[in-house]
Amino acid sequence: MSREVRRAAEILKRGGLVAFPTETVYGLGADASSAKAVAHLYAVKGRPADHPVIVHFASTGQAFAWAREVPEAARQLAARFWPGPLTLILKRSPLARDFVTGGQDTVGLRVPSHPVAHEMLSIFGSGVAAPSANRFGLVSPTTAAHVREDLGDEVDLVLEGGPSDVGIESTIVDLSGAGAVLLRPGGISEEQLGITLRTPTADSPRHSGGLERHYAPRTPARLVPAHALDKVISSTANRIAVLAFSRPDERVDYWLRMPRDPAAYAQRLYAALRELDSAGCEAILVEAPPQAAEWAAVLDRLRRACT
Ligand code: TXA
Ligand code: MG
Repeated sequence: MSREVRRAAEILKRGGLVAFPTETVYGLGADASSAKAVAHLYAVKGRPADHPVIVHFASTGQAFAWAREVPEAARQLAARFWPGPLTLILKRSPLARDFVTGGQDTVGLRVPSHPVAHEMLSIFGSGVAAPSANRFGLVSPTTAAHVREDLGDEVDLVLEGGPSDVGIESTIVDLSGAGAVLLRPGGISEEQLGITLRTPTADSPRHSGGLERHYAPRTPARLVPAHALDKVISSTANRIAVLAFSRPDERVDYWLRMPRDPAAYAQRLYAALRELDSAGCEAILVEAPPQAAEWAAVLDRLRRACT
């Protein structure tokens, strides 16, 4: 593996694109200090140029060099959760240029824990800009095979790292203003964070994960309350694919059963949505998980995946 990882770091140095595993989802990486590399990244991703991108590092020290102010709360969260599935939004230092911040005065910083990501970032030695390695708006990849299906030969190298452990994107906490704002629920729950959070306001930073339809399969998907699932299935004439906790219903063409544990559900969610999307059905029905705090991140992704 190490040889491949060294090759990856060299490709990044030359301004190329490398897809790499992280504990959350696979990222599509480019040298965060190179305007040209990041422009190419956005073109391949199909992402609007004014959207900010998260910058990834091997260590907290390197990450904080890209911020001009590091509040105590940021130090504490970094000490507890880095390396890991947490992204901090801080006021940027001059190292974070407009092409990674979307022209905003803040930057998104993350230190991933996946050993392959960590090794690549250590060898590279600086910031790697990386959104999820899928086309803009579609379901994020949690395996190297997903990345190849989506981006194929538009990427110089896809590093193999097995299925992502967490399965959904990092939790994003904005500490660039007064207090802490949760911009995206994710791999670390609000309860685990253990800090008081404000809800986002109109002047909170823009982020594309906040777009209503995102993380979405191509087949129209619908979130259905558990108690209504049977009725909706009976009244649907289309070929349907179902994602549910309960046992398969023989009237349904394609059925995937999901675990009742939120972490296990999150780990499988994106692969499941991809599988249902390619089942050749006209609609996807998703049995809604409970409205409980430990399901917040999964519910957020499901709402955005469904119309
Ligand atoms: O788990 C993750 O965070 C994955 C892996 C690859 O690290 N990355 C990821 O990146 O989900 P992406 O680009 O798909 O989503 C990053 C989110 C976007 O909604 C982006 O707009 C937001 O982070 N973001 C990045 N920098 C920001 C900033 N300065 N202010 C506000 N939001 C920011
Ligand atoms: Mg994404």
